[in-house]
Amino acid sequence: MRRVILAAATATVALFQLSAAAEAPADAIKYRQAIMAAMGGHIAALGLVNMGRVPHQSHLQAHADALADLATQAKVAFPANSGTGETEALPLIWQEQDRFNQALAANEKAAAGLKAAIATGDKAAIGKAFAEVGKSCKGCHDRYREAQQ
Ligand code: HEC
Repeated sequence: MRRVILAAATATVALFQLSAAAEAPADAIKYRQAIMAAMGGHIAALGLVNMGRVPHQSHLQAHADALADLATQAKVAFPANSGTGETEALPLIWQEQDRFNQALAANEKAAAGLKAAIATGDKAAIGKAFAEVGKSCKGCHDRYREAQQ
């Protein structure tokens, strides 16, 4: 019985590895856009609470934690084969990888900073950290995402 379970677990792992290796460009793009859309959702929610338009202070940490995780995930969401198709990602991303990676790292750092600021409860620090995150989103979009109408 144990052997059967082990074999099944091994097969599952193999399947995951196989699917990871066979990431189709269209799916890589969709996955990236899903991560970005999720970031947008958490930023919108954080903004509404921070501006006092909704009272859900107790949700702030969860949104910031998610944003920090998503910023880390974004670092692997731009594989080399995902630059063409239904995407707003500009080719420049793959032409200057070092600079682009810095933009990803800046976003990850800013999101981690917001997560830490919210944990302290210091309103001024939270406002400042929130602005830093916004700057890191915009900084990347301005250079690496198709201009929005
Ligand atoms: C390092 C670069 C980079 C950073 C940092 C970044 N983005 Fe993006 N974002 C992009 C690119 C490139 C696209 C276009 C992706 C595509 O169409 O394949 C995008 C697309 C989006 C989209 C549209 C998703 C969709 O449904 O197609 C939203 C919303 C978004 N980003 C929000 C954010 C927010 C909010 C942040 C900051 C918390 C952020 N992004 C940080 C590069 C970045």
